Amino acid sequence: MDIDFRRLLPSDTEPLVRFLTGESWPFHSVGEVDGDTARRWIAEGRFESGENRSFWILIGAEPVGVVRLMDLADGTPLFDLRLRAGHRGRGIGREAVTWLTRYLFEEFPHAHRIEGTTRRDNHPMRRVFLRCGYAKEAHYRDAWPSQDGTLHDTVGYAILRRDWLTGRVTLPQWNDEPVDRGPTR
Ligand SMILES: CC(C)(COP(=O)(O)OP(=O)(O)OC[C@H]1O[C@@H](n2cnc3c(N)ncnc32)[C@H](O)[C@@H]1OP(=O)(O)O)[C@@H](O)C(=O)NCCC(=O)NCCS
Repeated sequence: MDIDFRRLLPSDTEPLVRFLTGESWPFHSVGEVDGDTARRWIAEGRFESGENRSFWILIGAEPVGVVRLMDLADGTPLFDLRLRAGHRGRGIGREAVTWLTRYLFEEFPHAHRIEGTTRRDNHPMRRVFLRCGYAKEAHYRDAWPSQDGTLHDTVGYAILRRDWLTGRVTLPQWNDEPVDRGPTR
């Protein structure tokens, strides 16, 4: 599969509105995006601004997804990824995260890590993080209210520049509670 990435242009506003409103996004805080909301997000600079950049994921000339990179002035940029439903589960997510990881580390020398979060039950996204060398770093219980009121857990993953350079994945040290004060109960 030949996948390309192309930076969003001002003339992409209406195609982007159609993309966002044309699918359901069950793992985003707004699952059904209406046109006014999409246009407001674009006008606010969520996709393109001093701190944010976004790219179409193209197969041939067809836009099948959007990569959104955020907090680019920071040492820890974040990303979001959306694919059209008909193009999920075909390896595009993995290719996109591999591409954006390289792009961020090459384009922003001050970036020493890249982060992403998702809902605990977003199994494909969690698998993509792991397959692309990201390590699970955070688990926030009941942190993700869905629109029906259910509280889900949020999970956070990150990749370090030094791990990306060596191709190794170093994991956080989880058993690090200080023991000098004895048990708490
Ligand atoms: C999440 C998303 C970006 C993943 O991209 P994708 O192209 O569908 O994912 P890929 O095909 O690259 O890989 C999916 C992996 O998850 C696995 N997978 C798919 N469904 C799964 C499930 N229900 N349970 C466990 N693993 C699953 C696949 O087998 C594959 O793993 P593998 O590479 O080891 O075989 C895409 O599905 C999407 O846009 N979803 C809607 C928006 C979204 O949730 N975005 C993430 C917001 S943080």
